[in-house]
Amino acid sequence: MPLKVAFINNAYAPTKPFDDLGIPVVKGSCKTIDDVIALLKDCDGALVSTIPLTDRRVMETCAKLKVVSRMGVGVDSIDLKAATELGVVACNTPAVNTAEVADHAMAMLLALTRRLVEANEFMKSGKWGEDGARLKEYQTASHRIAGSTVGIIGFGNIGRAFATRIKGFGPERVIACDPYVPQTTADLYGVKLVDLDTVLRQSDFITIHAPATKDTNHLINRDSLAKMKRTAVLINCARGPLVDEVALHAALRDGVIRAAGLDVFEKEPVPSESPLLSLPNIILTPHTAGWSPTFIAESGRKQAENVAFVLTGKKPHGIANPDVVKTIAVMRATDPGRWKGVPDFSTSSEF
Ligand SMILES: NC(=O)c1ccc[n+]([C@@H]2O[C@H](COP(=O)([O-])OP(=O)(O)OC[C@H]3O[C@@H](n4cnc5c(N)ncnc54)[C@H](O)[C@@H]3O)[C@@H](O)[C@H]2O)c1
Repeated sequence: MPLKVAFINNAYAPTKPFDDLGIPVVKGSCKTIDDVIALLKDCDGALVSTIPLTDRRVMETCAKLKVVSRMGVGVDSIDLKAATELGVVACNTPAVNTAEVADHAMAMLLALTRRLVEANEFMKSGKWGEDGARLKEYQTASHRIAGSTVGIIGFGNIGRAFATRIKGFGPERVIACDPYVPQTTADLYGVKLVDLDTVLRQSDFITIHAPATKDTNHLINRDSLAKMKRTAVLINCARGPLVDEVALHAALRDGVIRAAGLDVFEKEPVPSESPLLSLPNIILTPHTAGWSPTFIAESGRKQAENVAFVLTGKKPHGIANPDVVKTIAVMRATDPGRWKGVPDFSTSSEF
């Protein structure tokens, strides 16, 4: 049966892997789940994006769909449970922008400790010679990282890359919480694993690098913010839902913590009326932490290759729902359904 692949809202992935295989590609810009279903109805694979969601209805309705692939590491826009149960492989491209995100979190921390954004605006306003009070504020309220305690929530690829970077700034201690990483791994980075409460209470600077899951939703909320030092700085370059933005706004407004840097938000794009936009002690970037020309080239290529590989019986670069292999094995042994006639990537010699 001839194969067909769709690109949804995708500007960066090349069609070459499919052109080489003679697999036709359709491209569509989708706003709703119904748009996605209309595009994927007769497709075998899809390059999907952050929105619209790839949910159970999409995978149930699109009976030929075998593989969906995301650029980057986060797969929170794909219903992984449904994908696993329905025998759809959800692919990602792990570690393609680890350096970019770790750099971005570090840049946010430095910008906040050194008050770079306001000082730059002050300089450009031409008021250095006139506004002594503002100048004094930058002189007295800029801080050093040396000697501090730095806390990392989520000690995977990006958390570790951040630990490597922050070490150069001479913190007294770097602590991290991650229920799935052993101390022997953290030892390699000179990091002490502690519980979340300890990270919240003891850190001067906290950076979040955990995924958005049911367990991490609003991990940072009114209670956790209240546990932090009043001088604490919080950075989130992971995913918006990890932080309760209403609680964060109140904490920044009321001086519960000193400052925050956010690259990711509960609702993206952030609405222009969001109260976060007018806080003086926050810096914001539009979910750009992971981006660079290197990321675009590598991630786009791997996102496309994931689909081409799975459809031709080869191991993809990353699978976010590895248990799907068991579902597909059962399907192949009983009723192959969507997998009929497609070689088994899980028995590839590289798997
Ligand atoms: N802002 C961006 O542009 C951007 C770009 C890339 C990745 N990200 C986000 O950064 C996150 C981290 O990426 P990564 O490549 O390091 O992923 P990773 O899978 O290598 O690491 C995530 C770590 O979080 C840990 N974790 C899971 N649940 C946790 C919890 N409840 N508390 C503490 N730790 C927990 C995991 O054990 C894992 O070690 C991703 O989830 C992704 O959503 C954002």
